[in-house]
Amino acid sequence: MCGIVGILGKEPVAPLLVDALRRLEYRGYDSAGVATLEDGRLTRRRAEGKLRNLEARLKDEPLAGTIGIGHTRWATHGRPTERNAHPHATDRLAVVHNGIIENFRELRQRLEAEGDVFETETDTEVVARLVTHEMRKTNDPAAAVAAALPQLHGAFALAFLFDGHEELMIGARKGAPLAVGYGEGEMYLGSDALALAPFTQTISYLDDGDWVVLDRKGAVIRDAFGAKADRPKIRTSAGAFLVDKGNHRHFMAKEIHEQPEVVGRTLAHYLDMANGRVRMPADLPFDWAKLDRITMSACGTAYYAGLVGKYWFERFARIPVEIDVASEFRYREAPLSAAGLSVVISQSGETADTLAGLRYAKEQGQHVLSIVNVPTSTIARESSAAAPTLAGPEIGVASTKAFTCQLAVLACLAIGAGRARGTLDAERERELVAELVKVPGLMADALKHEAAVEHVARDIAKTTDVLFLGRGTNYPLALEGALKLKEISYIHAEGYAAGELKHGPIALIDETMPVVVLAPRDAIFEKTVSNMQEVAARGGRIILIAEETAADEAGLVPAGMIPMAPMAPEFAAIVYAVPAQLLAYYAAVTLGKDVDQPRNLAKSVTVE
Ligand code: F6R
Repeated sequence: MCGIVGILGKEPVAPLLVDALRRLEYRGYDSAGVATLEDGRLTRRRAEGKLRNLEARLKDEPLAGTIGIGHTRWATHGRPTERNAHPHATDRLAVVHNGIIENFRELRQRLEAEGDVFETETDTEVVARLVTHEMRKTNDPAAAVAAALPQLHGAFALAFLFDGHEELMIGARKGAPLAVGYGEGEMYLGSDALALAPFTQTISYLDDGDWVVLDRKGAVIRDAFGAKADRPKIRTSAGAFLVDKGNHRHFMAKEIHEQPEVVGRTLAHYLDMANGRVRMPADLPFDWAKLDRITMSACGTAYYAGLVGKYWFERFARIPVEIDVASEFRYREAPLSAAGLSVVISQSGETADTLAGLRYAKEQGQHVLSIVNVPTSTIARESSAAAPTLAGPEIGVASTKAFTCQLAVLACLAIGAGRARGTLDAERERELVAELVKVPGLMADALKHEAAVEHVARDIAKTTDVLFLGRGTNYPLALEGALKLKEISYIHAEGYAAGELKHGPIALIDETMPVVVLAPRDAIFEKTVSNMQEVAARGGRIILIAEETAADEAGLVPAGMIPMAPMAPEFAAIVYAVPAQLLAYYAAVTLGKDVDQPRNLAKSVTVE
């Protein structure tokens, strides 16, 4: 979950490394560091905390050199101090690492027994010392890396810089992504295409087990067995996206506001609006009509998108859907039938648990359809077929626009599957498509009530616990609303199916705890009204997200009201996501929290 970058350039690289790290900061922001060769000698600067601390450090103590590596960290082994920050170095080399070396204790003991003295608690220092150890035997950096890699268990992407070697950088990849970038007399390594976007759009992704030797003229890639390997050079479009906040204070605000546009763009990709039909991804290697089950797995917000999708697939296409968080799915040895389809959902396409779930399903002989936002990601590349979400880069750590785009794709796929299976006729498909087409406009309407949300959020910011309730597709949205609030405001929140309230959580209700009810007018609206009455009868403080008339109809005077436009219920969850996200956003802003980079989190979770 850390971000790594390496540059063999023509100009001083330290500012370029920092620029690349800024684009990688979403992967972790506990500490950061860079190392370069100044007159052939390894030099490094590191700083605890956000990248701006490293920038300040470099301003006071600049680094020269036209070759260098950089790192932004999400701590796994060892506290996020300067000492534990990467690059880790010996007298021979410096290394940056993304991932976890699982056998680092065993290796450390062995190296200590041979006289090595460790300076940090990190697993990465073991890599630095192990390769240095091998170099003492051969004095050849490439041979040393080749000898060390098979001794490392776990997941890693690594970039090495060697003292005295101005024309050499070595990278390696196993279980964590690493891309090689090609420039004019310059070469690059990076965790993703976005990091390299200012420098080059021509990249090759390393396969698992690959390692690569770079000089300024090019790269020689070898596979895990040491054989030369050809990895295709691709042109990426990552450079086309400007990673800035526009007129917004935070990326999260910008991304919430982008939703009408990006959900519209995603729907346009999957809908033939003129004919009222869904356009399914071409060349799918399976037949929807023959599926007996869908098994979904994903993490966090993407998992909640899948939970909403379950309702749609079961209702429109009559396919049973089983869904798990990927960290459980990967280990529970689920029996998967040959006639089943696995669906994985991921914004980054790099989430370690989701990727492991995908690989498990493939091993069981299933086709895997991934719904991903990063088309060049490992998950997209390893799936049998990928259905893209067209959200563009999501920088705010809390997922917003990727979530609603995932919902848009799931809705389209469920309708298309329904048509293929004969469970939806052309007329119903047209009706559903017409409802989907309205969604971006309804999201834009919901954004107009931002002031009402901000008002309610100020109240929420004074509390320590919040309950979110919803039914049907709004039940997963209640879970998502609670997750958003927890992760960026640090207010404790729980999401519940409204009908579950009386089975336990009702004991929590008192006159202080806000209960946010997501209540679009659907077939079970009356049931949700009954649940609200149960809360009101116990003095609970209801925050109602519903049509303006809903409170009157329910005979309630809510403590807060966020009005929503009338809409058909089928896809209301996509629209109701907007106030749920804004509520979390404004609560966090009111509390002065770091909205885009909440504590302890990282955007791309590439470790278990
Ligand atoms: C929450 C959030 C996370 C991610 C989860 C999966 O706002 O962003 O819960 O949804 O880590 O990440 P992806 O979608 O990249 O697999």
